[in-house]
Amino acid sequence: MGRVEVRYCSRTKFGNTRRIAEAIAEGASVNAVSIDDEPRLSEKADILFLGGAPYANIMAPELRQYAEELDPDMVGKIVLFTTSNWSRRTVMALKKIFKEKGITVAEDYFYAHMLNIDGKIEAAKQFGAENGV
Ligand SMILES: Cc1cc2nc3c(=O)[nH]c(=O)nc-3n(C[C@H](O)[C@H](O)[C@H](O)COP(=O)(O)O)c2cc1C
Repeated sequence: MGRVEVRYCSRTKFGNTRRIAEAIAEGASVNAVSIDDEPRLSEKADILFLGGAPYANIMAPELRQYAEELDPDMVGKIVLFTTSNWSRRTVMALKKIFKEKGITVAEDYFYAHMLNIDGKIEAAKQFGAENGV
């Protein structure tokens, strides 16, 4: 079995993306870590779950920086997740960055609407369990 990591960038007081990250991590039997606390992977992750949200149409600059600086040798495959009011552009933008870097990204990603985080916790756990192998 490979090494699984969960990283997220969450900015509102509701912590929507953090809550989904924690559920995915629970499903994958690992801990979710904010990119604020660990700006770099210290060991290679075979699977890296990575999530963020859009704020006025763009992801947090720190998340963009994290993605741009991610060492392709430190990750096998990325699995994305996002929360938002309507937009999925965080996923699309991250996919573009990683494609340019030659990092594999799973086609499938997890989405939760900002007003339905509670309703998505179980599905997020399942997503973590199914994709964290
Ligand atoms: C200042 C601000 C701007 C936002 N802009 C967008 C947006 O452009 N598109 C969208 O779909 N959601 C937008 N949202 C909703 C957030 O993406 C959503 O609440 C998300 O779940 C926040 O995640 P977090 O709690 O992990 O920070 C915005 C929220 C805030 C606070």
